[in-house]
Amino acid sequence: MKTKIRELLNQRKAIILAHNYQPPAIQDIADICGDSLELSIRAAQTEADVIVFCGVHFMAETASILCPDKMVLLPRQNAGCPMADMISAEALSARKAELPGVPVVTYVNSPASVKALSTVCCTSANAIKVATSLNATEILMTPDRNLARFVESRTSIKIHTWPGFCPIHDAIRRKDVVHARQKHPQAVFMAHPECRMEVLTLADEILSTSGMLRYAKSSRHSAFIVGTEVGLLYTLRKENPDKRFYPVSAGMECPDMKKIGLADIVHVLETLEGEVRVPKAVQEPAYEAVKRMIELA
Ligand code: 13P
Ligand code: SF4
Repeated sequence: MKTKIRELLNQRKAIILAHNYQPPAIQDIADICGDSLELSIRAAQTEADVIVFCGVHFMAETASILCPDKMVLLPRQNAGCPMADMISAEALSARKAELPGVPVVTYVNSPASVKALSTVCCTSANAIKVATSLNATEILMTPDRNLARFVESRTSIKIHTWPGFCPIHDAIRRKDVVHARQKHPQAVFMAHPECRMEVLTLADEILSTSGMLRYAKSSRHSAFIVGTEVGLLYTLRKENPDKRFYPVSAGMECPDMKKIGLADIVHVLETLEGEVRVPKAVQEPAYEAVKRMIELA
């Protein structure tokens, strides 16, 4: 299957971009693995004609926003993100009308139509930098209330939140961290900013997925409690065979991130089915919001 995928990628002048949460077989075959920010940047830079995006729908949409002339294929159309579904363009328009003049910072985990109504996008890797770059006293941050509260705790900006969240990260509680620390007292606790504030206040480091990979590699510590989706453990362990990694709690698996298999990649490369394309009327304003973020990065 891997040989076949490589042949098809050459024929189609295609590359595979994969998120850090993808299953091991997908990460191993990918041309590039990364967090949401890195994958957006790489999508914007690639010279390939076709991008096979192994992640969830909003990630493929972001690639299409950045590369409207390329074909972006999502190998499983039903790989979505529940947090992205917690906001719509209509609901955001109504909220904006209540907050005239307030800039809108939208997490990339959102539909393209919501990005199109936003001042700028952000990811977990750059949310503080993006928010402070606006030099605003107040902003509306959508759709992740936890990321918004995290930014508020690290800046002097008044932040209007949106009631969205990631069901996987939001499920972690203070007691899970306390329990994990009791079991692994020497371990450093790394948390993703999609976690609740009660979890973030207990973290040694608050990082995006690729931020965790870099931190673990360069750290002098040898044991880590990992406060994010379990897919990251594969690369953490592969890159650091002498270090130990423990999930903060059981069941931190995003079902949407596990939908794509190698056979799905073969299928979309053979048939070119599964294209994600953002209509021009949405792509153009969404591009401005995503481009502003990438320029800051
Ligand atoms: P990162 O941007 O840190 O990779 O996170 C993406 C995501 O969906 C986390 O749930
Ligand atoms: Fe969405 Fe959470 Fe899954 Fe990331 S881990 S894709 S935020 S549901």
